[in-house]
Amino acid sequence: MSKTTFAIIAAVSAATGAAVTAASMSLASPTTKKTKPTPPTLSTPPSPTASATLPAPVPFPGALAITAPVDPAGLFQYGFPGPVADLATRNSLISSFDRRTKNPFWVAEHITPASLASREGDRKGSVFLEDPDVPEKFRGKLKDYFRSGYDRGHQVPAADAKWSQEAMNDTFYLTNMCPQVGEGFNRDYWAHFEDFCRRLTTRYPSVRVVTGPLYLPKRDADGKWRVSYEVIGNPPNIAVPTHFYKVIFAEDGKVGGQVAVGAFVLPNARIPNDKPLSEFEVPVEAVERASGLEFATKLPVQRRKRLCVDTACSLVIKEYAQRQQAFVKEERKQVSAPGSPRI
Ligand SMILES: *[C@@H]1O[C@H](CO)[C@@H](O)[C@H](O)[C@H]1NC(C)=O
Repeated sequence: MSKTTFAIIAAVSAATGAAVTAASMSLASPTTKKTKPTPPTLSTPPSPTASATLPAPVPFPGALAITAPVDPAGLFQYGFPGPVADLATRNSLISSFDRRTKNPFWVAEHITPASLASREGDRKGSVFLEDPDVPEKFRGKLKDYFRSGYDRGHQVPAADAKWSQEAMNDTFYLTNMCPQVGEGFNRDYWAHFEDFCRRLTTRYPSVRVVTGPLYLPKRDADGKWRVSYEVIGNPPNIAVPTHFYKVIFAEDGKVGGQVAVGAFVLPNARIPNDKPLSEFEVPVEAVERASGLEFATKLPVQRRKRLCVDTACSLVIKEYAQRQQAFVKEERKQVSAPGSPRI
C-alpha cells in the first residue's frame, strides 16, 4: 500500500480515535457515571423502534404543557444558513460545488464506447468559463488562477466529452476545475489515469466516474495531524486540494448486473510515470470518510466486484509529447486573456 493509503487510513483511524475519546470522556462525566461503562456505539445510532419501547416521560406534577423559553428556529425568519451544494446538470457532467473551498465536492460523468467513438467536439473550440449558476460571491474566478502556478484541472476531462462541442464546452466551467499541479501530474500521471478510465470501455460497456478533491491531514513533526492547503487568488479564493479521488463504477450493461467498483486517491503532486496505479487504490470507504460523501449506498454487496480484481489496474504510458505540445499551445493562446494561469 502507498503512503497515501496509509495517510488516509491513519487519518480515518485518527478521526475515529478522537471521536471515541470524546465519547468516552462524556461517558465518564460524573452525572453519567456507571459502574460498568458501556462502549460507545458511534456507528450505530439508536434505532427508531428503540425509542418506542421507552416509557413516556412523566410530567412534573402540576405541569400542563412545557413551553420552551427559547426558539432557536426563529433564526430562519432571517434565512437558512445552508450549506448549499450548487448542483449543475449539464450534457456531459453533473457537478456539486463547495462554496467554501470554491472547488467541486464531486463531478460525475458517464463514458461509453459510443460517447468516445463520436468526435464532434474539439477543445480548441472551448474556453474556460466562470460558472454563472454559482452566486457571484462564491464563484471561482478566472483571475484566481492567473499566475497561480496551477493548471485549471478538469475533473471530468475534456477528452471524455468529444461527442459534441456543447458537451465539450460544459467541461470548461470552473465548477468542473480544481487547481492541479501541471507538470508531472495534470499533464502526465493524472492524464494517463484519465486514459485508464476511458480504456475501461473496451471491457465494460458503461463506465461511471466520480471525481473530486480532498484535503487530507498530514502528520507534522510534533506527531499531530493537520490539514494544510494553499489558497489561490488575491484576495485568496480557491483552495488547492492536497489530493484527488476517483470512484469508478464499471458496469456490465445489464439491468441489475454486476458493477466493478474501484476507488483511487492521488496526491496533487508530480508522480513518476512508473509508479503503479494499484498503489493509489483505496477502499471506497476511505474516500467516503475523507470526503464526507457516500458513493454506493444503493448498490447491494452481491452486485459488487472489485475493479482491480476484475481487470488490470495499470496505466498505459503512451508518447504524450505531442499531446503535451497541443496543451501548452492552447494554454499560451489563452495567456493573453486575463485569467489564464502561468504555465
Ligand atoms: C462553445 O464555446 C465557444 C466559446 O465560448 C462558443 O463560441 C461556441 O459557440 C460554443 N459551442 C457550443 C455548441 O455551445
